[in-house]
Amino acid sequence: MTKPRILTADEAGIGEAAARIAAGGLVAFATETVYGLGADATNAEAVARIYEAKGRPNFNPLIVHVASLADAKRLAEFDETAERLATAFWPGPLTLVLPLKPDAGIASIVTAGQNTIALRVPDSPTARALIRRASCPVAAPSANPSGKISPSRAEHVVEGLGSSIDAVLDGGPCAVGLESTIIATRPRATLLRPGGLPLEALETALGAPLDAAKGADAPVAPGQLASHYAPHARLRLNATQAETGEVLIGFGAVDAPLNLSKSGDLVEAAARLFDCLHALDAMDAQRAAVSPIPETGLGLAINDRLRRAAAPR
Ligand code: TXA
Ligand code: MG
Repeated sequence: MTKPRILTADEAGIGEAAARIAAGGLVAFATETVYGLGADATNAEAVARIYEAKGRPNFNPLIVHVASLADAKRLAEFDETAERLATAFWPGPLTLVLPLKPDAGIASIVTAGQNTIALRVPDSPTARALIRRASCPVAAPSANPSGKISPSRAEHVVEGLGSSIDAVLDGGPCAVGLESTIIATRPRATLLRPGGLPLEALETALGAPLDAAKGADAPVAPGQLASHYAPHARLRLNATQAETGEVLIGFGAVDAPLNLSKSGDLVEAAARLFDCLHALDAMDAQRAAVSPIPETGLGLAINDRLRRAAAPR
């Protein structure tokens, strides 16, 4: 087992971390909140490896990190509320969930196939330099194994994720140490997750109270709502072949119009899953069949998603 490279937060370290991200690698990096596990948000396979490294059971949508408000505006629609909050609190521990621009180039696995995107500009010069040097938006959940405590030091990342990642950009202990506060601005400003930015500060900037929080991480659940993932077509799972009128989504060496991974690679399949479901809609398919996916590694998350997409509605 090789250890990840520990990179110091200087010119050379930032340069190497950026090159690894640009090349599709996984690099943990310090932000002011917690260490994030970063990958190029336009590279679906790189992002799929984030889920694999974390052992994350579900394709929760991920926060995309950018270096500036101007960069964020290339990816999402900002209304007046969003503009005001971003101007007041970025860089900083605030994540905004905003309508995704269709031409943003973000891999659909990042947003879990939704039409919104969570964006944040971290308040760490090293993190922003990394993002700028990598020349891509950086998707990054907290850099811990799924279900474990978030890392606020490089050592936590190494202990937790070890050899499943390429490198850690060591920026020392995180100043905030608690994940960002997440706000959706539409239809009105709503707290999705309390975090590193206090509510009072947000309400002062808005000049109005926020919609009631439903408790830590609760409404973040778009990922839990079947309809968000469901294509128009009715899905039949664990199908060895398509029946008349069905479009087959294959896995492995099967003859199918859509294939999650011809070589049977679960990382590739995870990266392609939401794209394939979108493709069914584009084909106006009414019924689809999906090859069996092994219930191991990323297969758990893929099957979880497929079951939700196939659930009666
Ligand atoms: O401070 C932080 O936010 C850290 C650092 C690395 O930036 N990141 C972090 O990411 O905490 P993560 O993946 O552990 O939490 C992201 C949360 C999830 O609960 C997810 O469901 C929510 O953000 N989220 C992401 N995109 C969303 C979207 N489009 N709509 C609603 N919730 C979203
Ligand atoms: Mg987390």
